[in-house]
This record gives sequence, structure tokens and C-alpha cells, in this order.
Amino acid sequence: MTAYSLGKLLYEGKAKRVHATDQPDLVAVEYKDDATAFNALKKAQLAGKGRLNCQISALLFEALAQAGIPTHYLGLGQGNHAGNWMLARPVRVIPVEVVIRNVAAGSLCKQLPVEPGTPLDPPLLDLYYKDDAYGDPLLTDARLQRLGLVTPDQRRQLEQQARAVNGVLVSLFDSVDLRLVDFKIELGLAADQQMVVADEISPDTCRLWDGAAGDSQDRILDKDRFRQDLGGVVEAYGEVLKRLQGVCPEPRVYG
Ligand SMILES: Nc1ncnc2c1ncn2[C@@H]1O[C@H](COP(=O)(O)OP(=O)(O)OP(=O)(O)O)[C@@H](O)[C@H]1O
Ligand SMILES: [Mg+2]
Repeated sequence: MTAYSLGKLLYEGKAKRVHATDQPDLVAVEYKDDATAFNALKKAQLAGKGRLNCQISALLFEALAQAGIPTHYLGLGQGNHAGNWMLARPVRVIPVEVVIRNVAAGSLCKQLPVEPGTPLDPPLLDLYYKDDAYGDPLLTDARLQRLGLVTPDQRRQLEQQARAVNGVLVSLFDSVDLRLVDFKIELGLAADQQMVVADEISPDTCRLWDGAAGDSQDRILDKDRFRQDLGGVVEAYGEVLKRLQGVCPEPRVYG
């Protein structure tokens, strides 16, 4: 038994489907097993990834809520929606990917003379224009203003909220011996114009290094395993879920 019925498919992305429901203030987000990297040039099906990302996101959204950070998350699905579905508030996603980096890795080290693994203190915040057709380019504040994507007030709020998310997640992951190297979030405006953390927070959107694994590739517990063909992607995501289950509030079930 579910407390809603599905409406039309609103959006199908690379990793999720967002469905309308019979309630205007409720969407159902279905996490898929599809894995993509390099703007979808590389693709695979990874059985179990959808469920893992859904469960990990739910735990992280619960932790953010506990810390007073508003998110779109309303609870996990149940019945035939158990596992890889969550219910959320529909939002107008701001087409800006907010990236926070605590440690240098990935594209940063290709674009700047910064050695991978260099701690970044204060954490570096970068904004990218969320549009695959343009290859998600880095935004400057002037470009952001030019595109008129956010008001100056929303720009400040965006940064403040992302830094608050980083603070919560860094200490949470630290408590289970995982280093939050960097992550991407999407923010959206809910019906009442409240800015909330939307989309997902998972090993697809974070870099996580196992503190116990030294400097080898074994420490990588995120989508870099897929990008770099390291194998054990689903196993790594499973390890992240297992550790978080010990330290996050139990995810609520919707309905
Ligand atoms: N609460 C929400 N309300 C409306 N849209 C949402 C919500 N949460 C996430 N979305 C959007 O749904 C889509 C999720 O799909 P997915 O992550 O698969 O997209 P994607 O392939 O990464 O593509 P995109 O470039 O659009 O993010 C994203 O565009 C995301 O911004
Ligand atoms: Mg996405």
C-alpha cells in the first residue's frame, strides 16, 4: 500500500527518473542502475547501484535534516517502491552544480597546478553551469550574473547552504573513517521559494577515500572506481552504506 499513485514521468536523467504523483507537492524519484561518466561517453549497468545510491542519499538527507539544513527529501518508498525509490518535494532545480572540494582531485588537478591529495583549507567552492550540451562549464560570478540564474541574495544563500552541507558531511564521514574529498550538490526552489538541497548525495556525486586504506587505489569508494575501471564499484558503494548506517538517523518511510 502506498499513500500516493504515480503520475507522468517528469524527467528521465542518466541516473534517475522523476515521476509526478497524484499530489502536487510530491514527486517520486526512482534511482536507476545506469552508470555514466565523462558526460555519458562511458556507460554501464551496475546491478544494485540504484538501491545503494537511494539508501545512501536517504541517510545523508536525514543527517542534513537533523542539522537543520532543508532538503527535498520526504522519505523512502515502500511496497513495490521499496529499495530504490524516494519521495521528495518537487523543486525548480537551479541549473548550477555547486562543488565543494576539501582535497584536490579530479578536474581541478587537470586545470590547475595543484597536486592530487593536497588539502584545501578553506574548502574550495566552484559553480558549474548544469547543461550537458555545453559540457557543464565552470561559472564565474560575472557569467552567473550574465545568465541571470540566481539573484545576488540567492547566490549568497547557495554558497552558505553548500558550505553548511560540507560541514555536516565532513564530520559525519570522518566519524566512519571516510574522507570527503569533494562533492556536488544541486539546490532547488520549493513551491514556497525555500532553497533546499535537492537531487542526490551519493558515491556518484561525492569522492570518498577510505582512511584505513593508505594511498593506494583501494581507498577509492566512489564513482572514480567506474571512471578509472578499477572494478568493485557496487561493493565500494555497499561499504559506504554499511558505515553510514551506524551513524545516521534511520531513514523515515514515506506514507
Ligand atoms: N525534487 C526534485 N524536483 C524536480 N527535479 C529534481 C528533483 N530532484 C532532482 N531533480 C532533477 O531530476 C534529474 C535527476 O536525474 P539525473 O540525476 O538522472 O539527471 P542527470 O542525468 O544527472 O541530468 P541533469 O544534467 O539533468 O542533472 C536532474 O535534472 C535533477 O536536477
Ligand atoms: Mg544527476
